[in-house]
Amino acid sequence: MSASKDGGRVNLLPGNDGHRGLRKARLLGLTVGSAAIFAVLFYIWGRWGEVFPFLGAVALTLAVSLFLKEWFGFAGREVRKVHLALRDFLFLCSLAFLLFFAAKGVIEILGEAQPLAVPSRVYAYLVPLPAFAMVVRILINAETSILFTVAASVLSAAAVGGNWPELLFLLLSGTAGASRSRRVTDRQRMLWAGVQTAPVCALAAVALEFAFHGGGEGLLPAALFGALNGLLAGPIALAVLPVAEYAFGYASDIRLMELGSTSHPLLSRLMIHAPGTFHHSMVVGTLAEAGAIAIGANPVLCRVAALYHDIGKIGKPQYFSENQAGEENLHDALSPGLSRTVILSHVKEGARLAREHGLGDRVVEIIEQHHGTSLLYYFLDKAKPMIDDRKASEEMFRYPGPRPRTREAAIVMLADAAEATVRSLRNPSAREVGESVARIVNRAYLDGQLDECELTLRDLHVLDGAISRVLATLAHRRVDYPGSGIVRSGEAP
Ligand SMILES: [Fe+2]
Ligand SMILES: [Fe+2]
Repeated sequence: MSASKDGGRVNLLPGNDGHRGLRKARLLGLTVGSAAIFAVLFYIWGRWGEVFPFLGAVALTLAVSLFLKEWFGFAGREVRKVHLALRDFLFLCSLAFLLFFAAKGVIEILGEAQPLAVPSRVYAYLVPLPAFAMVVRILINAETSILFTVAASVLSAAAVGGNWPELLFLLLSGTAGASRSRRVTDRQRMLWAGVQTAPVCALAAVALEFAFHGGGEGLLPAALFGALNGLLAGPIALAVLPVAEYAFGYASDIRLMELGSTSHPLLSRLMIHAPGTFHHSMVVGTLAEAGAIAIGANPVLCRVAALYHDIGKIGKPQYFSENQAGEENLHDALSPGLSRTVILSHVKEGARLAREHGLGDRVVEIIEQHHGTSLLYYFLDKAKPMIDDRKASEEMFRYPGPRPRTREAAIVMLADAAEATVRSLRNPSAREVGESVARIVNRAYLDGQLDECELTLRDLHVLDGAISRVLATLAHRRVDYPGSGIVRSGEAP
């Protein structure tokens, strides 16, 4: 799902950061620009067939937009795993419109030119819905790709003649494309998903052609066009993905895999300036990936977001215990309030750096949420003798949030806290590691940190086990490497 998940309801407002104004303006520009382009395209189409004037084209753009808004808006409110931000809504509408005109172009240009001397209706089997459905699944989620397939099928079928065979083919081919593009992490898998879709499309085209038009001259071209549609789905999706990522700020798993390379400039800087944090992030990445696999969340997103989760420490690495390596603790010379400011700033700074380097909204939001609104226990305890109002001071020593809103963000939070806590234990046994991780999970749950994500109690139990197992192995190995830093419970892990 897009990182715009926000607790189960349609959120037509983008994120919650200082960039909101800029993003709003950008989205507004995109909306107006796209609407104008589509109105002009409708006008050209209308002129071509002498159907309607320019105002008619604007009205048709509005009507189609209303249909899409109602469809995605209703689904966004009522379908549990569909949470569409304005950005998602705009992206889906643009794709649906594009497909509409692609369908129109295919049927009118090829149908009239007749390059292959086949019945013109057969060209409808070339409408590239499988590719578009794959893109939606990869960038948003499976549930949204099903909704998109239905809406885009209705629109595109209308563009190619509005008959049952076209509608049924589009529904079937789009669903086939989307269902075969689960966890696409590289280009080969993308191409392979298209190859797997091809026989389904070919078979569907032949069956529908036979059912509605009888066995005749249309059968062979229907099979060929159906197969070609599936085979081209991978390359078309690969061409659309980078444009969608650039224009709408998405990060596909393919892009995340690229970001996971330690040669990325940000990770290289982290490795040089904050080696302790770099090592911590690598371990958290391994834990988060194992946790995600155990509960069926997105392991690529978890690993990559974990690699970057503490990137905001680059500017002041020496203030974080994992980089102190036994040297003096700079916080000894600071008031708890000042320490709090320095520690808290790594979240905001991390999100800023991630945006600056175009890591994509999913990674940025996990960075923002990886501490939720949890407490800085160490500094709260240090400040205790100086303060009277315990409740007010507790609020002061909390991270500003937001709390994790996706399963992946929650996994990174738990893996992060577990790694930091277990690192502070000397030569821990597997049982001690297990008890520490269970304490971390319980504390996060009781503190309400997991209230806004979709982790179930069963997920938490499985996660606890998966993180404990990996961490126990890593902690055991660490015995051979004395001299690791000591972390204080509650200090920014
Ligand atoms: Fe952190
Ligand atoms: Fe951390």
